[in-house]
Amino acid sequence: MEKFFNAVKPGSREARLAAEIDPARLPRHVAIIMDGNGRWAQRRHLPRVAGHRAGVRPVRETIEASAQLGIGWLTLYAFSLENWKRPRAEVDTLWHLLRHSLNKELPELKRNGVRMQVIGRIDELPEEVQRDLDCAMLDTAANSGLQLTIALNYGGRAEIVDAVNALRNSKLPITEENISANLYTAGMPDPDLLIRTSGEVRVSNFLLWQIAYSEIWVTEKMWPDFRPLDLLHAILDYQKRERRYGGLGEPDSAEAPVPAVAVRS
Ligand code: FPP
Repeated sequence: MEKFFNAVKPGSREARLAAEIDPARLPRHVAIIMDGNGRWAQRRHLPRVAGHRAGVRPVRETIEASAQLGIGWLTLYAFSLENWKRPRAEVDTLWHLLRHSLNKELPELKRNGVRMQVIGRIDELPEEVQRDLDCAMLDTAANSGLQLTIALNYGGRAEIVDAVNALRNSKLPITEENISANLYTAGMPDPDLLIRTSGEVRVSNFLLWQIAYSEIWVTEKMWPDFRPLDLLHAILDYQKRERRYGGLGEPDSAEAPVPAVAVRS
């Protein structure tokens, strides 16, 4: 967390909030459903793509803040299998934004020690997008800081189907461990904290297997308005919860029940 304190103004709201976080109990893996770009734009009488453009800043800031805080894994849901149903121009803008951001931000990602990877049916993406993703992954492969995963052309059910098919071909028994080991996220810890913007309380086919015991935090803010301060709020809220994994938890903390889903406005 030291890097975060060095990067923010002493006495700022970010610094004060970060001081309340217990560095020993940071979520290891934070996953985010970035939602509300379209509504953000509509409310400003702008085309939907303006919302996607405005969504790049919080992507950059969230990656940077996560790396500085010392979070191990960050997974961002950027494009679902269902997103192909959107108008062609919107889909093309999303690929353009992704490629542009990758090229622009790569030096900063490297400076921050970020290692990037992607999950989803990547071989169905436009070839030039695949090329840029390959370059970014290769360029950051030796980094050992934040492991950034971008979910692209991703669907949670499709991921489970792909894993089960791979297992069937391998003739290994269908067990929870073997399914986990054949998911796109093999080797990663499951998300401890799942954040969703735009106030919608649903998981939208994201990491269905992996979020079995994740704590969910929802904010009313649209994704373009999401700031590192919101990430800090989510982490603080996460640290107040008691994770029981179906058991009974610690006897002395059992009297403070916490809602399964917290919505913050
Ligand atoms: C959801 O908002 C957002 C997306 C489908 C795309 C996310 C893309 C970005 C944040 C831009 C760039 C991404 C990267 C990784 C550089 P929505 O369009 O579904 O909003 P709505 O629910 O209000 O319509």
